Amino acid sequence: MTKRLSALLVAASFCGQLLALQPRQSVSFDSPGNPILGDGSLYTADPAPLVVNDTLYMLAGRDEAGPTTNAFIMNEWVMFEAQDIDPAGGEWILHRDVASPSSVFAWALSGGAYASQVVQGVDRRFYLYASVQERNGASDAFSIGVGVSDSPSGPFVDAHPAGPIISQRVPVANNIHNIDPTVLVDTDERVFLYWGSFNQLRGVELDRDMVTIKGSPVTVSSLTGFFEAAWLAKRGDTYYMLYAGNNAGPNSPCTPTSYHACIAYGTAPAPLGPWTFRGVVLDIVSSTTSHPGLFEMGGQWYLTYHTADAAAGGHFRRSAAFDRLSWNDDTQPPSIRKVERTKRPSLSQPRPPSRNVAPLAEAESANGTPIQYWTRALNDERVLENPLPPDYWCSWAAERSPRVNTLTYTWPQAVRLNGTAMAFFADQPAGSSIGVPPPASWHVEYRDAEGTWCEVDVRSAGGYPTAVSRMPPEVSFQTVSTTALRAVLIASGSSTYGGVGVHEWLAFAPEPV
Ligand SMILES: *[C@@H]1O[C@H](CO)[C@@H](O)[C@H](O)[C@H]1NC(C)=O
Ligand SMILES: *[C@@H]1O[C@H](CO)[C@@H](O)[C@H](O)[C@H]1NC(C)=O
Repeated sequence: MTKRLSALLVAASFCGQLLALQPRQSVSFDSPGNPILGDGSLYTADPAPLVVNDTLYMLAGRDEAGPTTNAFIMNEWVMFEAQDIDPAGGEWILHRDVASPSSVFAWALSGGAYASQVVQGVDRRFYLYASVQERNGASDAFSIGVGVSDSPSGPFVDAHPAGPIISQRVPVANNIHNIDPTVLVDTDERVFLYWGSFNQLRGVELDRDMVTIKGSPVTVSSLTGFFEAAWLAKRGDTYYMLYAGNNAGPNSPCTPTSYHACIAYGTAPAPLGPWTFRGVVLDIVSSTTSHPGLFEMGGQWYLTYHTADAAAGGHFRRSAAFDRLSWNDDTQPPSIRKVERTKRPSLSQPRPPSRNVAPLAEAESANGTPIQYWTRALNDERVLENPLPPDYWCSWAAERSPRVNTLTYTWPQAVRLNGTAMAFFADQPAGSSIGVPPPASWHVEYRDAEGTWCEVDVRSAGGYPTAVSRMPPEVSFQTVSTTALRAVLIASGSSTYGGVGVHEWLAFAPEPV
């Protein structure tokens, strides 16, 4: 390790220095655990692992979106490198500017450095399968280009300068979102590529030259909930396909909201299938997207993924993480046990005392919740400036939003309460009957010892404010002891109603708990 490091630029202090580094520089840092690089100095998504000579190389796209930008701004791939890996922390090297779409592919637009993977080819060189946009492409210009290098971390040159090996034009016309390539070089040196997004998964064999398509692509439709982010692997005689699934529902084993994704998997006896769905490998994470990678090192298997857990992270400011993965060899074929996530100690601190006891309650919506929104967002203590739908709760329904919406908090044991507040979300002005305006009115009730819902006696001036605020004023009331509080929200409108949106619903105890 020491010898390797001496050849690199080693920053004395990692924090804040990274962005100033010149291209193709590398930096070493000590990670205190997941996310691997969590200080917010640089965000990394879609980690794709490769092990060569007992060294882990993990390609990732750099997320460059600002804190309130809801878009993937990705211009560059970076690469993590490590030898003694431990999800609880360790020493890593980060290589910057490993590749960018327009630096490797003369036919590509800049940007769109989506999920990509480096594999070692039949000729032992390193091949980058990259999601990039074709300059003269179709309406959806995403395509798959192939770069090649003598080193896992580049520099890469175009291995197929004629253009992408997969696009909406080649090898056959298709209208899918051609991103998220995953490649397996099988033990018999046959090569297989899968790719796709938005519920479409395709696979095809490649020639030993790593770029020529052999035969016709297959379409896979048997992997329950497949959304995107396929990862093809082999263990023993069994092929494994890990992927981001988003079959959503209140009782779905995958995800409660349509925006999040679990990592699910299926198996096949042969590289092009047939594929059988097997289960969930990783529950939803803090970012809406999820992306798996699978690797074995020193006899231990690991899953790579990303989260929004880094400092000032978000759905478009993601950070690579990894954890141990284990197999159940008692099943046929062997199955993957669900992965237990670990986080750096600073992210697992107990919550400091607070008057807001809402996070201790279970939230429910009597009217149900449209699948893109999430009741869990009511009491997660996160109020984002520019949220995606699962970051708040909302009643907005395409057909008909209800006039009366009832939200309930239930605590496992009695709590004392003397205040509440609602941080409303709105995208329409007060009084509107379309979209999500502020509500017309609202009030809260508590459940007394007999189970009767009783209105509280409001003591603060101004009643129940409906103005939109991320820091709403407290509505204070007489101290009550209860196991349940409900909020009755009357939607804005008449005959048809707007939705009601709530970033956060707070319930205050008289003293910090
Ligand atoms: C791996 O080890 C072999 C044998 O020592 C060497 O030829 C090769 O360059 C190494 N590859 C990498 C990526 O370090
Ligand atoms: C509720 O508790 C807070 C904090 O102790 C206190 O400031 C406030 O006056 C209380 N309100 C009522 C109505 O008791």
